[in-house]
Amino acid sequence: MTARTDDSMVRPGLRIAVFGAGYIGLVTGACLAELGHRVVVRDIDPEKVRLLRSGDVPIYEPGLGDMIARNKERLTFTLDVQETLNGAEVVYVCVDTPPSASGDADLSRVWSVVRSLEAASHLRAVVVKSTVPVGTGARVRAALDAAGLGHVGYAANPEFTAEGRAVEDFLHPDRVVIGADDDATAALISELHTGVDGPVVVMDVRSAEMAKLASNALLATKISFINEIATLCEKTGADVEDVARAVGMDHRLGHHFLRPGIGWGGSCFPKDSEALRQLASNTGYHLQMLSAVIEVNNLQKRRAIQRLKDELGTLAGARVALLGMTFKPGTDDMREAPSTVLAGRLLAEGAEVRCWDPMARPAEAEPWTWTTRHESPRSAVEGADAAILVTDWPQLKEVDWAQAASVMRRPVFFDGRNLLDPAVMRSLGFTYISVGRP
Ligand code: UDX
Repeated sequence: MTARTDDSMVRPGLRIAVFGAGYIGLVTGACLAELGHRVVVRDIDPEKVRLLRSGDVPIYEPGLGDMIARNKERLTFTLDVQETLNGAEVVYVCVDTPPSASGDADLSRVWSVVRSLEAASHLRAVVVKSTVPVGTGARVRAALDAAGLGHVGYAANPEFTAEGRAVEDFLHPDRVVIGADDDATAALISELHTGVDGPVVVMDVRSAEMAKLASNALLATKISFINEIATLCEKTGADVEDVARAVGMDHRLGHHFLRPGIGWGGSCFPKDSEALRQLASNTGYHLQMLSAVIEVNNLQKRRAIQRLKDELGTLAGARVALLGMTFKPGTDDMREAPSTVLAGRLLAEGAEVRCWDPMARPAEAEPWTWTTRHESPRSAVEGADAAILVTDWPQLKEVDWAQAASVMRRPVFFDGRNLLDPAVMRSLGFTYISVGRP
């Protein structure tokens, strides 16, 4: 998993300042240190910085904790901007860009980093890794020029890492995209990636910004597409799992992201697809396909609720177990998780909601404050009228479902990830519903 096999391969590294110690900043900082660079990571959250300094990692990401520990000589954490910039050659902007009230990405954190660079004339380049609208680089370039930093290069270096495999994706990527409008900056940022096992693709800044948004949109499109086909399979008696298998065997299409389910979530797809749609609207163009992709995804969660209503008659007074809360397995991330929509809808219908997840952090916000959390799937389904499998945690394959069925009030089971075998579940007495399977 590491990019180098021994210390003799480590070149004298560059000095890098990383702004933002979220998923992307921490993974970027740790991996750049692993490649031999000297990295200072800055965050505005004192508790996060305290934890990192004491050797704890505030997020769950396989391999990240070990990587931070073994690079502690080259990787430090601070709250202080000046300490971060002191001697830095390259600045990496890895702050978050959440949706704003207007639907555009909120770039205030990016701008606050850019403003803090005004006196940093020793810099060689500023690199934005945060996902930003196309055209942001040009505005940052203009701001740097206005601040007398015309000699400092600018690059867009979007990230394509998936949660749960971010370290692996960083060191062994399908591609490293570098958007730079001058050769020297492109060469510097390419050199920074020496040791990364993947092709480097250089393009102009705007194309790099667009490549990131387009990649995520196409991945989300594949999922929404197969989810729509799944709905049609339900209506026509076909089995979407067989359909997806056959479709995916065409090497021009591929198997990836053709798993039907309860819908996509996470920190990237929902935010980036909205941001791309908004970006198009701002140019006067309506992205029709992407709009449909988003709508299909929203409907997918609501359809699950409707299927339960069809079975139970009403959800008022029903006890429903949600199995899995995170937006996908292998992460503790709850951002835009389908489970949040399901919990909110079920509560609105008057249901009692019980949930289980092996990794989600205690959710203090609504709707979770109105639900109860349980230690095991078995205890979550106790006395339940229905269960929804929301996240395809492998643990759910190992549950003694015969026993679970026996403790439910009504064994109605919606498998939102097609994780379990329909014939087996039905033989255990479940009214078993899944996505696009007869
Ligand atoms: C994604 C992209 O994969 C990554 O390249 C980008 O940098 C960030 O966004 P991530 O959000 O970590 O990464 O999750 P991913 O594994 O892509 O899954 C996204 C969502 O789609 C999850 O909710 C997942 O359950 C769902 N999904 C994925 C499906 O429903 N079906 C599939 O076939 C694949």
